[in-house]
Amino acid sequence: MTTTKILTPAELQSHIDKLPRMNIAHLPTPLEEMPRLTERLGGPKIWIKREDMTGLAYGGNKARHYEFEMPHVADQGYDVMINIMDYHSNNARMTAAAANKIGMRYILILKNAANRNVQGNLLIDKILGAELHLLDEYQSGNAEGYATKLKEELEAEGHKPYVIQEHLFPRIVGMVGFVQAGVEILEQIEENNLKCVHIIGVAGRSMCGLIVAAKSMGLDWKFTGVTVNYDVPLDDYIFQHSKDLQDVLDLPVTFAESDMRVLNQYVGEGYGVMSAQVAEAIHIAAQTDAIICDPNYTGTAMAALIDQIEEGGFSEDETVIFLHTGGLPAVFTFADQLASFNG
Ligand SMILES: Cc1ncc(COP(=O)(O)O)c(C=O)c1O
Repeated sequence: MTTTKILTPAELQSHIDKLPRMNIAHLPTPLEEMPRLTERLGGPKIWIKREDMTGLAYGGNKARHYEFEMPHVADQGYDVMINIMDYHSNNARMTAAAANKIGMRYILILKNAANRNVQGNLLIDKILGAELHLLDEYQSGNAEGYATKLKEELEAEGHKPYVIQEHLFPRIVGMVGFVQAGVEILEQIEENNLKCVHIIGVAGRSMCGLIVAAKSMGLDWKFTGVTVNYDVPLDDYIFQHSKDLQDVLDLPVTFAESDMRVLNQYVGEGYGVMSAQVAEAIHIAAQTDAIICDPNYTGTAMAALIDQIEEGGFSEDETVIFLHTGGLPAVFTFADQLASFNG
């Protein structure tokens, strides 16, 4: 790894502060120990960064993203957002909440959603007032076409619609929220005198933000990202997104693909299908330190954490920090599988 210039936390903060921001997350989120899980696994000390406690309609990583992404979109004159997501999506819910906060109309196209129980994220989407389009399996095959048609109709009515999936740049802007989280975590790590920090969580944009923060401040934190989805070629994605984010913030950082260890072996049958290993991990985290993980994202990352500690994937002197990125309402969508799990 090569870093051309190391920034102090205050200098990094000054880069962040140049961007428009809306304060919608409850910050700082706690960084706390998981003493009972640590004891049960008998490995390195485990801590947890509680991004599930950001607030904003049940919390999660998108609260930080939208602090930066939502003003960016609103400032460009868009007056209605269109989002295409899966029926159980956390993103769908948190976007609805953030849209309400800024007073933006929000249309939600949900795939594979027709005839589902209105439960979990879908229930919250409805309560938040998202304009729901619940597609059946056949329609879901062309959800983008469905969105384009809707967008054209809105344009004909004089609106300026913003289809989230058509724009990458604002989503990169959203990642700044996790560069901010990196500054926050550093402060908490220093307060608690933690050494040899190794952060593990879902491999995605939030982890990219933390990597950018750590590298900008010259920190030797290690990162393990856990894949939850077969669709995204992650190594490239992380590398490229970190670079994009560096450009947004104008940071003097260079990246290597080795900046994050990516674990692909916990995906199971794929996104949206909870494996027995994930169900077990959800129960272990709950029954030790009373942490609730979700069936798609944080449950998979928790399964990886447990397995890696059992298999010696972390060294004893490391402080392992589990990045809990939220997703709690999804537990209710998977109620039947979780309730019938024998663990
Ligand atoms: C609970 C949870 N964790 C992690 C992620 C990954 O998000 P990102 O790629 O923005 O880090 C998501 C995405 O929706 C999520 O819902």
